[in-house]
Amino acid sequence: MTATLSPADQADGLDVLALFQAREAERYSLASRHMNQAMAQVLRTIGFDVGFVRGEGPYLYDRAGRRYLDLLSGWGVFGVGRNHPSVARRLSEVLSAQLPGMVQMDTPALAGLLAEALLRRAPYLQKVHFVNSGSEAVEAAIKLARRATGRAGIVYCEHAFHGLTSGALSLNGEAIFRDGFGPLLPGCESVPFNDLPALERALSSRQAAAFIVEPIQGHTVRVAADDYLPAAHGLCRKYGSLLIVDEVQTGLGRTGKFLAVDHWGVEPDMVLISKTLSGGFVPVAAVLARKSLFDKVYDRMERAVVLGSTFAGNDLAMAAGLATLDVIDAEGLTENAARLGRRLIAAFQAMASRYELLADVRGKGLMIGIELGKPRSPALRASWGLLEAANKGLFTQAITIPLLKDERIVVQVAGHASYAIKLLPALTISNDDCAWIERSFESVIAAAHRPAGPIWAVGKALAGNALRPSALQPPVSSKARRNSGRASRSGRRATAQ
Ligand SMILES: Cc1ncc(COP(=O)(O)O)c(C=O)c1O
Repeated sequence: MTATLSPADQADGLDVLALFQAREAERYSLASRHMNQAMAQVLRTIGFDVGFVRGEGPYLYDRAGRRYLDLLSGWGVFGVGRNHPSVARRLSEVLSAQLPGMVQMDTPALAGLLAEALLRRAPYLQKVHFVNSGSEAVEAAIKLARRATGRAGIVYCEHAFHGLTSGALSLNGEAIFRDGFGPLLPGCESVPFNDLPALERALSSRQAAAFIVEPIQGHTVRVAADDYLPAAHGLCRKYGSLLIVDEVQTGLGRTGKFLAVDHWGVEPDMVLISKTLSGGFVPVAAVLARKSLFDKVYDRMERAVVLGSTFAGNDLAMAAGLATLDVIDAEGLTENAARLGRRLIAAFQAMASRYELLADVRGKGLMIGIELGKPRSPALRASWGLLEAANKGLFTQAITIPLLKDERIVVQVAGHASYAIKLLPALTISNDDCAWIERSFESVIAAAHRPAGPIWAVGKALAGNALRPSALQPPVSSKARRNSGRASRSGRRATAQ
């Protein structure tokens, strides 16, 4: 470690980097013992227990120094890549400047400046509320909408993902996340995504404070249909509900525009952003909103504290946000995402015309879903059916394993029991990286079309694992095991967020 040690550090000899180097290889047993044992087991089962030791730009490096292309980018956190030097430098400058952050009885200057910079990019909104995570942004948006409209209900979409805190979970469109955590917020109602008549039916009771929607659903990578968001906004206006667009994943250049809603020219009442805004360093999220909503929430001085959180707007998070916006502009990352997204989608569409296992390719910019589908040829159908019987979407999971092991591509299935693989790389990737992605998928997908090929063997091994009673569960009777089989199988799947 090169940093100067303080007297306190010298006294106790703490050297965090030395500690990392000495013990990082224990990470999975540490997780099993002290943290989420299911996650450690999932990673070992699917062979994702690589143990990365370094990250730079869109790449990860293993202990042998081998380079991997990371198409997960920390579930979208590393929009500007890992450890971006200008973001890192600006954060170090702020750290050494001893700024008076989190005074609390003060309004932080850097937060005001980041709010100003964000609103310049969404000029139809006038106010910003900072929080520390995407889920917290959703919680704040629920409160803003309820207070501003005097209504309790929130309409959300099937398969939506808005986070896992209790309020956000009430708007989650997947049972796997909700089960066992109820009762959740009353008055929340789901509608199918891209279904305007269903949305109109839900809003027409005039009970809904808001409709919340992702322009591209993170867990299905389904893109809003051309008329969906403009018409949804019209319906919200007609029935007195607010439109909240959750851009936690799609915002800040990811889809080839600063906000994904910019593709449709929609001006929502609230926009939620996070992930990329952190620069990959400091958790941060923001609710961008109309002034009229703030006027309702902060209508007298004693209410000045009704929204807020101790760490919200801290100087490091705000500096990360300012530095990230600067990098996005200076490096033309939004344009890069648009250009390389077009290239990748075209390449995968061409591949889909050659390979029966590729059912659909969709997305915008560098948020791309590649959906696998039931093959037509009898030999492939039989193997596919075997894997499906063990666990829905298992073949999709199987494909990610040779991508990691043979091609050094880090990628995951888009959501629980999903057939889609989601590509969510750093916005800094190059043409060479795109060639790497195209070559790797071509090779793995081609191999999957050989019925006796190794990918089916990988899939069958996974299926065997999925059907074995879970090592995570205490011993249970055979009857109970039969009944709980579905639940324990689902515990083995790691899904992207
Ligand atoms: C669209 C969307 N909203 C909200 C969230 C929740 O964000 P966080 O995990 O920071 O709480 C996520 C996380 O993946 C997301 O993709």
